[in-house]
Amino acid sequence: MKVAVFGAGYVGLVTGACLAELGHDVAIRDVVSEKIDTLNAGEVPIHEAGLADLLERNRERLSFTTEVDEALEDADVVYVAVGTPRTSSGDADLTAVWTVVDELPALDRRIVLAMKSTVPVGTGTTVRHRLDERGLENVGYVSNPEFTAEGTAVSDFMHPDRIVIGAFEPADGEVVERLHEGIDAPVVHSDVASAEMIKLAANAALMMRVSFINEIANVCEATGADVIKVAEGVGLDHRIGRHFLRAGLGYGGSCFPKDSLALKQLAANSGYHFQLLAAVIEVNELQKRRVVNKLERRLGSLRGKKIALLGLAFKPGTDDMREAPSLVLAGRLQAEGAEVSAWDPVVDGTTHLDGVHVAPSALGALEGADAAVLVTEWPELGELDWEEAGRRMSNRLLVDGRNMLDPETMRRHGFEYEGIGRASE
Ligand code: UDX
Repeated sequence: MKVAVFGAGYVGLVTGACLAELGHDVAIRDVVSEKIDTLNAGEVPIHEAGLADLLERNRERLSFTTEVDEALEDADVVYVAVGTPRTSSGDADLTAVWTVVDELPALDRRIVLAMKSTVPVGTGTTVRHRLDERGLENVGYVSNPEFTAEGTAVSDFMHPDRIVIGAFEPADGEVVERLHEGIDAPVVHSDVASAEMIKLAANAALMMRVSFINEIANVCEATGADVIKVAEGVGLDHRIGRHFLRAGLGYGGSCFPKDSLALKQLAANSGYHFQLLAAVIEVNELQKRRVVNKLERRLGSLRGKKIALLGLAFKPGTDDMREAPSLVLAGRLQAEGAEVSAWDPVVDGTTHLDGVHVAPSALGALEGADAAVLVTEWPELGELDWEEAGRRMSNRLLVDGRNMLDPETMRRHGFEYEGIGRASE
């Protein structure tokens, strides 16, 4: 089939590249001409495992353009994969979505508009009305949410747990299902509102697990239990499962923080107070800040102390800094008067963090530090020469915000080690 993808961000590029891999001809369109130039030059503007290979391998089936008409030429399906950031009210900002809908020209054939961007429940109905008002009855509408996680997005797309397709007209849903031929996964067909809700509810369930285990971790700290053992013992219950039970500094990223707020606001706008989600969000906010208390307990006032942040991206395998806990942490530490240094293997910290000394290596960031905080569990940190790291620091204190390192090994290297939800000494 011929597919147009509007939006060349994390979701659009992965969707486009994977659909090309499945044998379709894909035109990816973005309004940012620098991005399109980069892609046309054979480069990839984001860090996403396997994406560069996929784009290269399917070069002949992929094109990149800023022009709507060029992207739409002969298209059977048009994917909307534009950003839906949060507004100051916490609602999703759908400006970019409306721009795509309004840009669609009248066509003399039927096409399917497929929504990949995460949107509030009810958006599909509003889009349908807007299309009908413009006389575009031959544009079908399908909600086809994405469940890909950054860092594993290509493999998540090609080997999904399920494909969700919500359509007003069954035939449009079938077109989108055919597009995924070659992928072995259950397909959930539903109405449009339910498909929109599946995406929001799936994210909320995952976030709920993260905040749940973080609260369990905090109680473990207060009572002497070890959250890693607890998560193992709890997760082996098949009714619970072991995923998303890693305690840490809280979730960040492009989806969870914004989608949780969007769902909470969506409920509130309809007169419902989503108490559980409100608690999930609050727990996550507090979790990012607890590290500062941990440091203060060990070091006293942080004024003038040198603190090294190891890892900045919201999780390993991505250069995405959206809602990264490192941003809150750096700001809180600076507010307490600490000098902050940082290192990340892919993120250029200088463009995201003001007043932070960004070092080209982890050891460089640790030079003269009174404490280090492991913020992102990059594999490089597991392989770091911690003996040498300790020699570089002026005080061997490590807060392992992702429970990545072995406490005993760290203690053998002379470190005071503190994880999240584990006995600290
Ligand atoms: C998520 C969803 O997984 C994906 O389905 C959706 O489409 C977009 O949002 P992503 O944000 O890329 O994907 O990453 P994910 O791996 O899900 O992690 C989200 C956040 O939760 C990260 O900050 C991660 O560090 C945190 N997390 C995850 C934990 O703190 N503990 C866990 O056990 C799992």
